[in-house]
Amino acid sequence: MRLRILRSDMNLKGKKVLVRIDANVPIAKGKAVDGVFGKVARAAVDLEWLSQKGAKVIVISHLGRPEGKRVSAYSLRPIAKRLEQLLKIPVKLSREIVGPKVLKLVEKMEDGEVLLLENIRFDAREKANAPSLAQALAQLADIYINDAFSVCHRAHASVDAITDELPSYAGPLIQNEIAILNKVIRRPQNPVILAVGGLKVRTKMPLLQRFLPKVDIVLVGGALGTAFLKAQDLPVGKSIYDAEGVPLARQLLKRWPNKIILPVDVKVAKSLRTGVKVRNVAVDEIAATDVIGDIGLETLKIFKKRIGSARTIIWNGPFGYCESKTFCKGTIDLAKAIAARTGKAVTVTGGGDTAPIVEAAKVAERYTLLSTGGGAMLAYLAGEELPGLEALKM
Ligand code: 3PG
Repeated sequence: MRLRILRSDMNLKGKKVLVRIDANVPIAKGKAVDGVFGKVARAAVDLEWLSQKGAKVIVISHLGRPEGKRVSAYSLRPIAKRLEQLLKIPVKLSREIVGPKVLKLVEKMEDGEVLLLENIRFDAREKANAPSLAQALAQLADIYINDAFSVCHRAHASVDAITDELPSYAGPLIQNEIAILNKVIRRPQNPVILAVGGLKVRTKMPLLQRFLPKVDIVLVGGALGTAFLKAQDLPVGKSIYDAEGVPLARQLLKRWPNKIILPVDVKVAKSLRTGVKVRNVAVDEIAATDVIGDIGLETLKIFKKRIGSARTIIWNGPFGYCESKTFCKGTIDLAKAIAARTGKAVTVTGGGDTAPIVEAAKVAERYTLLSTGGGAMLAYLAGEELPGLEALKM
């Protein structure tokens, strides 16, 4: 696939450049959880480059899923702070996303300045891919750059419709990620293992369906794993899972019984509070009042053994409730086991929740690729067409 790319010799001095980044990172105590390999840090490298070229940089991002409403918990204020820290220049946050007030702010911008627009998903037209939002955004700028690979699987206005309104290019971050992912796609070394966990069952379950014919083994954990346990009519107590994913999980288990490896034991507790008393139980021993917090010790052994013989490993999504240290051990151990395989295997991981774990495990540099994308990375590797990339095709 050939994309219209932003070339480094393009003269951007004084140009108003609208850049879609993905700053969807966890927020804890009002601060962006974003380390050296975090999504904001990586986007900032390109924003700095644009600013140094003298562009007026207008930044778009989403945070969470506020469903078209202004929700203060999802404000981009912590992202503006994080960008200021990284770019070492003031980054103004515009409360409005489009309209006369934003136009005024843009008019006042000097070359090299950076303006961040408030969470684009506060506007319901974003998710609807509405041309009216794309047109209003286009009024702010001369060109559009998509530097958010991780959101290219969404046909949203700031990813897709906007490309009908402005000269549009793929940014350096997208170019780099795709180059590496293409290598994985073209020359996959067998056995290929897909390890997948996390919460976004509705995104990932259909992707699993696409992956299963292509990979040798799928290791499943997290809330996704819980949906599979439920599909086997096992008790899951008060655990978080997505009931809508259960029928598809049942179908997949029927079709691929030998490829899908599920937890045989789990760590459970009465709640997911840090420090709570935890028990390691077999999956058929989960009590009605239990919540699953992590994969169990036996499962960890089984998963590690599989990883130890893989030649390609694709991993996305925590295997437990990593918001709490009490329940993150399984995921951290797996993050380390996968990283240790690099060299003998191609190791690819990514996603907003996964990257902080890889960093916490201090193994980020050891992966072949730490992608910014979670769902997008999986969709691309599964061979799906990503609307954000289709829109940038030559
Ligand atoms: C991600 O974190 O995977 C991206 O930011 C996309 O988020 P979404 O699944 O809410 O669209």
